[in-house]
Amino acid sequence: MTEHIKIPHFPEPYWRDSVDFSNFPKLDKSIEADVGIVGGGITGITAAYLLAKQNVKVVLIDAGVILNGTTGHTTAKITAQHGLIYNELIEHFGLEKASMYYKASSEAKEFIKNTIDKHDISCDFTEEDAYLYTNSDFYLSKLEMEKKAYDRLKIPSELVKNMPLEVPMKSALIMKNQAQYHPLKYLKKLVKDSIKNGTEIYEHTTAIDVEYNKHPSIITRDGHRVSCRYVIQASHYPFYDGQGFYPTRMYADRSYVVAIKSDKKFPGGMYINAESPTRSIRSTQMDGKDLWLVGGENHKTGQSKSTINHYKALEQFAEKEFGISEYIYRWSAQDLITLDKVPYIGPITKEQRSVFVATGFRKWGMTNGTLAAQMISDLILAGESNYQDLYSPSRFQADPAVREFTSINADVAKHLIKGKLEYTSDLVSELSQDEATVTRIKGKRTGVYKDQDDKLHMVDTTCTHLGCEVEWNSGDRTWDCPCHGSRFSYTGDVVEGPAKRPLNKVKND
Ligand code: FES
Repeated sequence: MTEHIKIPHFPEPYWRDSVDFSNFPKLDKSIEADVGIVGGGITGITAAYLLAKQNVKVVLIDAGVILNGTTGHTTAKITAQHGLIYNELIEHFGLEKASMYYKASSEAKEFIKNTIDKHDISCDFTEEDAYLYTNSDFYLSKLEMEKKAYDRLKIPSELVKNMPLEVPMKSALIMKNQAQYHPLKYLKKLVKDSIKNGTEIYEHTTAIDVEYNKHPSIITRDGHRVSCRYVIQASHYPFYDGQGFYPTRMYADRSYVVAIKSDKKFPGGMYINAESPTRSIRSTQMDGKDLWLVGGENHKTGQSKSTINHYKALEQFAEKEFGISEYIYRWSAQDLITLDKVPYIGPITKEQRSVFVATGFRKWGMTNGTLAAQMISDLILAGESNYQDLYSPSRFQADPAVREFTSINADVAKHLIKGKLEYTSDLVSELSQDEATVTRIKGKRTGVYKDQDDKLHMVDTTCTHLGCEVEWNSGDRTWDCPCHGSRFSYTGDVVEGPAKRPLNKVKND
């Protein structure tokens, strides 16, 4: 069906490819700051911007380069419509807290809009209605219940039978006046402003621990320390657990995006379906034409047989529904999901109140990441935030969190054992270029990837976090861990935590 379409060989997000960033140095000595931030995504950069404006001395470090993690790989919808959530929030937390969640997300949206206005940032910002649609009879009643929840929360909305985008659908719930933008054009300005106000940024600087003396210090892999009064872990997965047991309270989920051009004109709006497989659709402008961003195909990290098939499924959907004239980019992203779907934002544990965590954004990082930066800045500057109880990482809600807790950890236990026992192939000699397999070398489970120059790269597949076995991700050419979502390049280097050490290399001698 799609033979005429040239598929991009390597994954690369449009956002990174369309903005130039300066490089920042690696930290090569120990330094001091008021606040040390780990992670240069939307949370870390926005927090640096807010704190530096108040004369707080900020040092921000990133294990790679800034704005190249999930923030650089998003679909960048700025909306409080986070899928089917409000009915569940009312049932689980009650009306008041569900209302607070909407208010917090809406304030984050307004913050982005006001910041763009204030600095006159040219970042392709447009206000759009957000559509949550379904083509499934089963989900019709769920959408109706969600509409009732919107009404109880006084969220301006409408349930409709038609929408501007022509895709098969039976009903859609509109949340009015949401927005979209180019996240890196926006954040580039915040980086510039933070630096002007004294923030220091260091790249290729991996944080591996937090140590306490009177105050906390961030310890880097090279043995340097950032001594500070407060630490903000904006590194997606907290690099420092502090006995908060985060691996038992979150799971990692991957999703995919293809960016295409079509002969059809994009009709406006932002769309996501309620059922699986997810289809999330918006557009942006590229060279004066609509660039259609078609995302979805979520699955738990390391638990999909052939990740390239997820790109193919999106491509086939886009070709069937819109017609592809050009297939320009493809990329994937990783998100973390908490037990009750509400992010963890606040002190890492009840006892360690000067180390903050911001994670579990459940694919809604533009609003949740901005909210996290606002909340943590308030907690540092004023000692409190309006939303601290709702998002507290120390909360524990018995239902349905316990069920989720049991299922996350049963899943981890299953993968911990499964990888050790499974049959492995020994067809290394039959590998084609750009293919990988898992085999046993001297009895050790070994991942082997053959690159474009026929060179074999062999790694011990035991994840350096807690010992599960990684699986090959053919779409992104990485080794992904099914337990807590660590990801490694084909040479074994850490792409994404919680693992801090690379996979061990294997020599076949
Ligand atoms: Fe935890 Fe691999 S990410 S064991």
